[in-house]
Amino acid sequence: MNVLEQSSTQHFIDIEDRHGAHNYHPLPVVLSRGEGVFVWDVDGKKYFDFLSAYSAVNQGHCHPKIISALVNQAQTLTLTSRAFYNDKLGAYEKFITEYFGYDKVLPMNTGAEAVETALKICRKWAYEVKKLPENSAQIIVCDGNFHGRTTTIISFSGDTNARKNFGPYTEGFIRIPYNDAAALENALANNPNVAGFLVEPIQGEAGVYVPNAGYLAATKALCQKHNVLFIADEVQTGIARTGQLLAVCHEGVKADILVLGKAVSGGVYPVSAVLADNAIMNVIKPGQHGSTFGGNPLAAAVAVAALEVVRDEHLAQNAARLGEIFRREIGKYVEKSNIASLVRGKGLLNAIVINDTEESDTAWNICVRMAENGLLAKPTHGNIIRFAPPLVMTEEQLLECVGIITTTLQEFE
Ligand SMILES: Cc1ncc(COP(=O)(O)O)c(C=O)c1O
Repeated sequence: MNVLEQSSTQHFIDIEDRHGAHNYHPLPVVLSRGEGVFVWDVDGKKYFDFLSAYSAVNQGHCHPKIISALVNQAQTLTLTSRAFYNDKLGAYEKFITEYFGYDKVLPMNTGAEAVETALKICRKWAYEVKKLPENSAQIIVCDGNFHGRTTTIISFSGDTNARKNFGPYTEGFIRIPYNDAAALENALANNPNVAGFLVEPIQGEAGVYVPNAGYLAATKALCQKHNVLFIADEVQTGIARTGQLLAVCHEGVKADILVLGKAVSGGVYPVSAVLADNAIMNVIKPGQHGSTFGGNPLAAAVAVAALEVVRDEHLAQNAARLGEIFRREIGKYVEKSNIASLVRGKGLLNAIVINDTEESDTAWNICVRMAENGLLAKPTHGNIIRFAPPLVMTEEQLLECVGIITTTLQEFE
């Protein structure tokens, strides 16, 4: 039989296993189609997607407006490189900077690249504007951080699995506890050469840790006081996921450097962006940073459409409202549960903590059973299950999903 005609789940798993690097551990589900909040596997089984490709598909799978922008642009012009101007990039740059309230954007492709870009801009600003001695700049980061997979980024990760045997590591980072403004104050007081503070407004990958109210505002104020750039990595929390356009908006904070990825394109195409005002962004001059694909016309057209969908369909408001319902309903279950000990989150970025050790496979087994029951979610860090559906979900669908989740948990009590 022709390989492409086979539809057995095991066949697709085996072929990936044999020919692909083993750098992920997927749930045993093989997907072949998506629409809105739903995905279908190769046997036609339908699931609610409660991961949204790690918050990339906020606008729902294959949103017609975004796909239409993709197809139209793909038939017209896809890539010019930045050796030339193209007729889509400038309009996108104007649109996204006005949308988020910054002077300038630097377009890249993946989240990790955007974080790398932010770190480079921050260092350059430190030498050329703040006037730190050459090669002395330090950037403060947080315990439990996840900013991607490049060599520099894993150099300041605390996750042994992400770091081990990838050294030597990039220098110039100081790690402090998350959700601890006093720790930042202390680090700033003891290190004269700090250039920036890189923070996730909610730590998604670590298990959806929401810092105490006031943490972001307090740390931003400390950065301002010490002339240090506040760099918000909103790759996962951004674009309406947490019930505001950006998670920093919950505390009225404007980051000095804003890092975006994932849902900038609605999960249709790799598009990431770094935004800053002129006083910071203008340190980058021709030839000092870039990417062949960054700012290509296809990405530009897709991103404008994807951001319009977020605004026109009021996805931040929907995420805020449905998130309240999710935590309230799951919270009722957790109160009388032995297997689920906590639900936490903001908007539609939530997690349920499973009452077992980090090393146990209970959360994994619950996710496998939820998949059998028609809902896809994935453990992050052993005993924590993240729940992040597309933001186009309706209340009725959300309540149906709460039913699937609680029924599944019930099987493990
Ligand atoms: C907060 C944060 N930053 C950066 C990244 C890296 O993005 P990418 O996988 O597109 O490189 C992620 C990915 O999950 C993320 O959650």
